[in-house]
Amino acid sequence: MFFKSVVSFAVLLAAQIAAAQSCSRTYTVQEGDTCDSISAANNASTYQVAVVNYGNVDPQCDNLTPGESICLGFAGEDCQTTYVVQLGDTCDDISSAYGVNTTILYMNNPQINEDCSNIYVGEVLCTACTVEVPPAPGGSPVPSVVQPPPTAVPANPSGDGGDDDDLPWCD
Ligand SMILES: *[C@@H]1O[C@H](CO)[C@@H](O)[C@H](O)[C@H]1NC(C)=O
Ligand SMILES: *[C@@H]1O[C@H](CO)[C@@H](O)[C@H](O)[C@H]1NC(C)=O
Repeated sequence: MFFKSVVSFAVLLAAQIAAAQSCSRTYTVQEGDTCDSISAANNASTYQVAVVNYGNVDPQCDNLTPGESICLGFAGEDCQTTYVVQLGDTCDDISSAYGVNTTILYMNNPQINEDCSNIYVGEVLCTACTVEVPPAPGGSPVPSVVQPPPTAVPANPSGDGGDDDDLPWCD
């Protein structure tokens, strides 16, 4: 299962690399905003906001300035189907709730680790049934693009174990 997932990941990732990268939505930062609060309020995932602002917003999002304009999504690669992680959530819960299989969930949210033990409360995940987010810029490793904020509270630190064979498919 793991190797199959890696292969489909590589194939589908290669297919989405050619896209144009113009910003389709912007947001003006307010006092007290965090990347995740902005993501949650605007249906833009944590990963997506980090990718589209790479080089401008730090991976831990500790350098937002009120008044600055940030991008929320690239045209044609803008996932607007999102879910805000709650305490106790697992990837299997989220997959089941949205009818999106874990392969697609991981491709849309490549910051999630293999056993899904690093999702955190308030993280915004793309739960679309197709791959909609842009790839990491220039093939950068995902941790150099996005990291949990220092205060992140793990949703489910032990992970959800593994068996994802019985998950429903996207409809
Ligand atoms: C975010 O998505 C929800 C659910 O589809 C929708 O009700 C809400 O209006 C959306 N918010 C924005 C800012 O697009
Ligand atoms: C999820 O769906 C994709 C596309 O239909 C498929 O290639 C993949 O094997 C599925 N993954 C799982 C875990 O069922």
